[in-house]
Amino acid sequence: MKHALVVGGTGMLSEVSLWLISQGYHVSIIARNAERMDKLVKRAGTKHHVTPLLVDYTDGKKLQEKLKNTISKNGEIDLVVAWIHSYATEALSIIIDEVSNRKHRWQLFHILSSRSNTETIREHIAIPHFCTYYQVQLGFIIDDSCSRWLTNEEISSGVIEAIKKKENVATIGQVELREKRP
Ligand SMILES: NC(=O)c1ccc[n+]([C@@H]2O[C@H](COP(=O)([O-])OP(=O)(O)OC[C@H]3O[C@@H](n4cnc5c(N)ncnc54)[C@H](OP(=O)(O)O)[C@@H]3O)[C@@H](O)[C@H]2O)c1
Repeated sequence: MKHALVVGGTGMLSEVSLWLISQGYHVSIIARNAERMDKLVKRAGTKHHVTPLLVDYTDGKKLQEKLKNTISKNGEIDLVVAWIHSYATEALSIIIDEVSNRKHRWQLFHILSSRSNTETIREHIAIPHFCTYYQVQLGFIIDDSCSRWLTNEEISSGVIEAIKKKENVATIGQVELREKRP
């Protein structure tokens, strides 16, 4: 069975976690809050295809442990969708190291906020040979000349499209013009 990891998979990416299960993936999900995780697992309708990884991703040691456990139980990770707050400076590189340890081809979809500079981020991430790296940037929407942030539904469906299309950089909504941001 294919194995996906969704970092922050109980929040705005909930629908992405559920969609990946429907696409035949075993999905490991990182988040801290057990109640929100239980709700998502109930929505999935199966415990067999979901592995909750309840961990604070700022705790590097525990994050490593959880990743090692799920890889040994559920197999190599083929696809990672990562929404990681910028204060967790080490989390993404720990995930990359653990997932790529084993010379296995995999894809990383890195979800970035409107303010992120995609080029600078790409330059600063060490992408291993066996990983294909994609960026998905969250923007905003202009409706009837008013601007607003994306809804969770728009974010999840945009990420699902990005996974299907595999563009190097996908933008959900728009990131220009900065002065029109909500
Ligand atoms: N440009 C845009 O339009 C844009 C950009 C960003 C956000 N937003 C909006 O803003 C809302 C709030 O953003 P949000 O970042 O709170 O998104 P969120 O996706 O609702 O929540 C963050 C996710 O990451 C997990 N998480 C957070 N910190 C963690 C940690 N230290 N360790 C492990 N897991 C962690 C959360 O679970 P736990 O809390 O259980 O750990 C949750 O699953 C979103 O719902 C979205 O609609 C919009």
